[in-house]
Amino acid sequence: MKKDLLSVSALSRKEIEQLIEQALRMKQKGVQALLSGKTLALLFEKPSLRTRVSFDLAIHQLGGHAIYLSPDEVGLGRREAIPDVARVLSRYVNGIAARTFSHQTLLILAEHSSVPVINALSDLEHPCQVLSDLLTIYEKKGRLAGLTLAFIGDGNNVAHSLLLAASLTGMNFRIASPLGYEIKKQVLNQSRELATSSGSQIELTAEPGEAAKEADIVYTDVWTSMGQEAEAEKRRLAFSGYQVDDKLLSLAKGDALFMHPLPAHHGEEISARLLDSPQSVVFDQAANRLHLQKALLAKLLLPTNSGVASK
Ligand code: CP
Ligand code: NVA
Repeated sequence: MKKDLLSVSALSRKEIEQLIEQALRMKQKGVQALLSGKTLALLFEKPSLRTRVSFDLAIHQLGGHAIYLSPDEVGLGRREAIPDVARVLSRYVNGIAARTFSHQTLLILAEHSSVPVINALSDLEHPCQVLSDLLTIYEKKGRLAGLTLAFIGDGNNVAHSLLLAASLTGMNFRIASPLGYEIKKQVLNQSRELATSSGSQIELTAEPGEAAKEADIVYTDVWTSMGQEAEAEKRRLAFSGYQVDDKLLSLAKGDALFMHPLPAHHGEEISARLLDSPQSVVFDQAANRLHLQKALLAKLLLPTNSGVASK
């Protein structure tokens, strides 16, 4: 059975912990050519800096190589039907990391592909970002369970994956979003279910200060995600009052981390110099994409009994 990663909830708590441990080992000790001769297709419908570069380097450092396929080249669902693209690519490559507008596109790709499909961001989730973020949090705080993460802003793809990941790993999750921009009900219900086993507490509010109070991590993301550009002006109005600045950050614990997946819109969701705050770990987050994705590629692209992913 091939293993896909479309949602962070496809993983168990144990698998997430193993991925973090494996990524840490790879970061500290370097890697061997575990994926020698393997090829990863990077099938992207949207722009990318971090995801594209870190996946390309990750497979390269593991002895394989990546082929980047731009939106205009492939024309997913326009030039060629999505199931046909999946069946063709499966005959050439060993895995597909796909960045799509609609999460449905990923589901169709995964259904018709015989090789693993990895969600490199969709409108619903961004699991690779969030798994890397867990690695960053673990490195800085030494644990996940019992910490409180406050997300300020849009109930978007990153917020969804964070909520699911927190609910799986025993982190508490608070989100402050304006009316009409809350996380999806379906994701909330799924997270509440997961939280019954892990003990995570989930709190929703419209007040950024309430969410940030005594938090261990303050996290935000853009107000207008890729594909929502036509709504940018409306969103700027809806989210005014949701900017993360020094004042909001000061409500969190003194040693709280500030996190953002990047790219950031300075002066919108964050104040002008927040990325330079001593509490900001945003560039560590970006760096950890490489390490976590190496662990993930080894887990998904190697046979289950190779022993690498489960060590
Ligand atoms: N954080 C992130 O996924 O960045 P890119 O969109 O540049 O890949
Ligand atoms: N929510 C953002 C994340 C970018 C990494 C977007 O989807 O554009």
